[in-house]
Amino acid sequence: MALENMSQMLRKAQQNKYAVGAFNILDYNSTKAVVKAAEETHSPVIIQTSAKTVIFWGTSAIMTWVRELAESSPVPIALHLDHCKDLDLIRQCIEAGWTSVMIDASARPFEENLALSRQVVEMARPRGITVEAELGAIVGVEDDIHVKEQDAHLADPEQAVRFCSEVEPDCFAPAVGTAHGVYTGEPKIAYDRIEDISARTGVPLALHGGTGLSDEVFRKCISLGCAKVNISTQLKYAFINGFVTYHTKNSTEYNPLKVIGAQFDELKRGIVEKIKLFGGYED
Ligand code: 13P
Repeated sequence: MALENMSQMLRKAQQNKYAVGAFNILDYNSTKAVVKAAEETHSPVIIQTSAKTVIFWGTSAIMTWVRELAESSPVPIALHLDHCKDLDLIRQCIEAGWTSVMIDASARPFEENLALSRQVVEMARPRGITVEAELGAIVGVEDDIHVKEQDAHLADPEQAVRFCSEVEPDCFAPAVGTAHGVYTGEPKIAYDRIEDISARTGVPLALHGGTGLSDEVFRKCISLGCAKVNISTQLKYAFINGFVTYHTKNSTEYNPLKVIGAQFDELKRGIVEKIKLFGGYED
């Protein structure tokens, strides 16, 4: 199928109380693992690229892998740019064929965040590209965005309502107590805020910081309105561990294709598990 934007898949997920997994890819092998996991579970999926990954490979290489995999796939697939502060990079991705982008102006004062996010919606919407925008500060490191614990703050529900009514994002990422990277303690999720913001804005919510959350936390957040769940660190670990584990077990063998195959299996196994947990899959 041709790539699609996130609009229909998120609305369907929101109505049926499941979530679409958004997985941060690293290269062709991990992109293929995301697509094959979605096919195995008959589920829609979001291929997500960090700004750093886009800069590393260039838009054209990523677009070639994604198009080739999506066009021969029977499941709905969106290509989404994750946390991006740079309007030029957003523009480049839109021009290259990304079907969805995230503007992350959450570190700016509220009015500036609102204005910049609105500007991206005005740039993207006429071209059928969906937009995710963020409010509040999610703790941890994602790409080149570092938020220290003392600087993290949850999204304010009153501001969230105004933000969504003026920006009109297709997907909204309020900070609700999750963290990017590896959790060092028990996360304190503000379930009441998820419920309140979801009910008052009506916009499908994105749950960031998916790696390391328990099954129970995922189920609860999804039941309260999170229709998109972001997973990145899990893929980074599987990418390295799949490679290292194979080589440790077969240390005299130098067959790169077998190593790449083991890495693919490790990535796909974890992605399938998450898609099943998020609830939108069919047997
Ligand atoms: P994790 O790295 O914790 O999985 O978070 C991913 C994310 O939210 C990307 O935006």
